[in-house]
Amino acid sequence: MRFIFMSVCAAFVLGPLILPAAPKGYPPGTLAEAARAAGVHAGVAVDHAPSDMQRKIAEREFTSLTLENALKWSPLSSAVGRYDFTRPDLAIDWAEQNGMRVRGHTLFWGRMNGPPPWLEGELAAAEDPAARLTELMRLHASTVVGRYAGRIEQWDVVNEPLSAFGGNHDPQNIFFATLGEPYIDIAFEAAHAADPAAVLFLNETLAELVPVKFDGLMALVERLLARDVPVHGVGLQAHFYTRPPERDTLQAQLERIESLGLYAELTELDLPLSLFKKESDPLAAQARAYGDVFAACLAVPACTGVTVWGVDDGDTWLDNFFLTERQAPNRPLLFDKLGWPKPAYGAVVEAFRAAAQAKR
Ligand code: G3I
Repeated sequence: MRFIFMSVCAAFVLGPLILPAAPKGYPPGTLAEAARAAGVHAGVAVDHAPSDMQRKIAEREFTSLTLENALKWSPLSSAVGRYDFTRPDLAIDWAEQNGMRVRGHTLFWGRMNGPPPWLEGELAAAEDPAARLTELMRLHASTVVGRYAGRIEQWDVVNEPLSAFGGNHDPQNIFFATLGEPYIDIAFEAAHAADPAAVLFLNETLAELVPVKFDGLMALVERLLARDVPVHGVGLQAHFYTRPPERDTLQAQLERIESLGLYAELTELDLPLSLFKKESDPLAAQARAYGDVFAACLAVPACTGVTVWGVDDGDTWLDNFFLTERQAPNRPLLFDKLGWPKPAYGAVVEAFRAAAQAKR
C-alpha cells in the first residue's frame, strides 16, 4: 500500500517534469517551426525574471520577444539621464542567442508606469515645460533606441495615445497635455533618428473592440502620415477581455492598416477563458478564437506577427487587472500554469500550417 501511495505522489509531483510537454502530434518547438514556415512571427511577452519553465517554452516555441516591462521609461530611468539597462541587456542577449526578433515596448506611454515618476516634477520646475519635455523625450529616444540600434527590429514608439473607449487623445496623457498631438511627431522623429532601420509602431488598446476608437486611431495615423511622420506600423494590442474576437472584423481592420501602406501587428493578445464560459467546452472555444485571430493576421500580407501577452496561465496581468481579477484564474494564454500546451496551441499551429500551405 505504501509503495502505491509513494508512486502516486511521485507521478503527481514529477509528472509535469518528465511527461512530454506537448500534445500528441506537436513535438516541442512545433509552434516556432510552423511560424517560420509561414513567414509570420509568433511572439511572446516575457517579464524581466522569467522562470526556467517560461524561458524554455519561450525560446523553444516563439520567434519574437517583447519585454513586458523592462524597456518602459519608468523601470529604466530613476532620474534624468540616469539609466539601468541590466535587465533589457540580459533579455536581448538571450533573445539573440535563440534567434528571436525583439519588439521594443514602449518608449512613450502616458498611463500606469509609462512616464518615469520624476517627469512631472521636471516639467513643473521648467520655465518652458513644452521645451523641456521635448528635450527629455529626444534624450530618452536617442539613449534607448540608440543603444539597441540594429538589435531591436520594431518599437512601440507611442503606446495608447487615445482615451480608453474613444477616438480622441487622452487628455490625462502628460505628453499630450504638455505638447498636444505633436508629441507623437517628436517621438517618432527622435526614434527614427536614433535607428533609421527600426520599424516604428503606434500601439493601441481596445481599438479592435471599439469601432469609434479604431476610426479615431486610423484618423490619427492619417494625420501623422500627412505630416511625413515616420510611422511604419500600427499595433493592435488584442486584449480581448470584453468579448471574443470576430475574425472577419479583425481581418478588415488589419486590411485597413495595410491600405495606408503600413505594417500591422497584433501585439498583446490574450483571451481569458471566461469569454467562453457558456460554451460546452470552453478550452476548445478558446482554441477556435485563438485560431481565428492568427488566421486573420495570416490572411493580411502586411501583418508581420502576433504576440501573446505572456507564456503561461500562471503568470498573466489579467489576474491582477481590476476588470478581470474577479474572474481569476483567467487562463488566457497558450500554455497552462504547468507549461503544458493547451488546445489553443494546436489551433495556432494549424493556422500557421494552413497559411504556409496556401502560399505553396
Ligand atoms: O518591478 C517592480 C517591483 O520592483 C516592485 O516591487 C513591484 C511592486 O510594486 O512592482 C514591480 O513593477 C510592476 C511591473 O508590472 C513589473 O512586474 C508594476 O508595479 C506593475 O504596474 C507592472 O504592471 C505591468 C503594466 O503593464 C504596467 O506597466 C504589467 O506587468 C504588464 O503586463 C502591463 O502591460 C501593459 C502593456 O505594457 C501596454 N498595454 C496594456 C498592458 C496591460 O496593462
